[in-house]
Amino acid sequence: MKNVLVTGGAGFIGSNFIRYFLRVHADVRIVNFDKLTYAGNLENLRDIEGDPRHVFVRGDICARADLEAAFREYTIDTVVHFAAESHVDRSILGAGIFMTTNVLGTQMLLEVAKERGVERFIHVSTDEVYGSLGPEGKFTEATSLHPNSPYAASKASSDLIALAYRHTFGLPVIVTRCSNNYGPYQFPEKLIPLMIANALDDKPLPVYGEGLNVRDWLYVDDHCSAIDAVLLRGEVGAVYNIGGNNEWRNIDVVHLLLKHLAKPESLIRYVKDRPGHDQRYAIDATKISRDLGWRPAHRFEEGIKETVAWYLDHQPWCRRVMTGEYQHYYKEQYEGR
Ligand code: NAD
Ligand code: TYD
Repeated sequence: MKNVLVTGGAGFIGSNFIRYFLRVHADVRIVNFDKLTYAGNLENLRDIEGDPRHVFVRGDICARADLEAAFREYTIDTVVHFAAESHVDRSILGAGIFMTTNVLGTQMLLEVAKERGVERFIHVSTDEVYGSLGPEGKFTEATSLHPNSPYAASKASSDLIALAYRHTFGLPVIVTRCSNNYGPYQFPEKLIPLMIANALDDKPLPVYGEGLNVRDWLYVDDHCSAIDAVLLRGEVGAVYNIGGNNEWRNIDVVHLLLKHLAKPESLIRYVKDRPGHDQRYAIDATKISRDLGWRPAHRFEEGIKETVAWYLDHQPWCRRVMTGEYQHYYKEQYEGR
């Protein structure tokens, strides 16, 4: 592992992963391949700008020529694939780009990786491919796929295509499926940063339905350490669930955030529910902890405290990413809801 192509490295998890990876591996080069959509932002990597082990390439995973040039120029031997359209609500407003990027883009990346030959291809996926749980049980790697949103369906499709490239062509693919992440640099369209950003501006906090849907939250650095473990010690062709055994109802997360921000509960607004809203996600991460010795290092209350502190310290970052396109999105998504 010398030249690692990280797709989507200017997004939330990708940028945290690059920072993590450079911290724990001295002798690697990371080629950060990103289209810089609304969600990609080079400001997320400002603190490592001078590090010669990080190269940025602006490119689209759907464009064969962009990929071929990057693989050739940097003799890529490893791929960690984060690039995607990642937000469920946006996939409800417009599903097309999710199919283009997540399905066709992933297939193009697999194709070029197959032609060039790589040692490892980590396909970063989500627990949402399994669908929705009732009050009991957890997703294991053997749970059948039952994606409900266009986003989840596009990710499930790409998981299957990645595994087909392993089966048919012997490409050394491993698939990871992680629960909801939170932490620094998350775009304020997702629950936790959106609630923090709105509360800081004393704007209403839009809680879907009754706020009783459950998500299993993991600090982003713990996701990064899990991917690192999978990359180093994972079995080719396998799927690994990643999660911190940390289920919370949305409304309880919002209350916790308000407590840390010292803002009143009167900011909460219950709004019309998301169509097809998955009730509950919960990950059984026995396999990765048993086989690869991975454990999350952050407790939720501490991680949330750190995350709130980060957003308080980075309000100019927040304001910059919340201009322009974000304002249109916010209006379309929340106005009159
Ligand atoms: P994000 O939306 O913050 O970042 C996505 C990045 O991909 C952006 O930098 C964007 O510019 C880039 N990108 C989009 N289309 C591209 C294209 N065609 N070519 C090249 N780059 C492109 O997403 P995130 O939350 O960091 O998620 C990263 C990955 O992790 C996704 O694959 C997502 O499905 C998966 N995942 C996310 C979570 C979560 O809670 N956020 C949980 C589990 C898995
Ligand atoms: P989100 O961060 O969009 O992640 P996902 O839908 O991929 O799990 O949402 C997390 C939960 O929070 C989900 O149950 C929907 C809910 N939610 C709200 O109640 N209000 C909001 O404004 C958002 C963005 C999400």
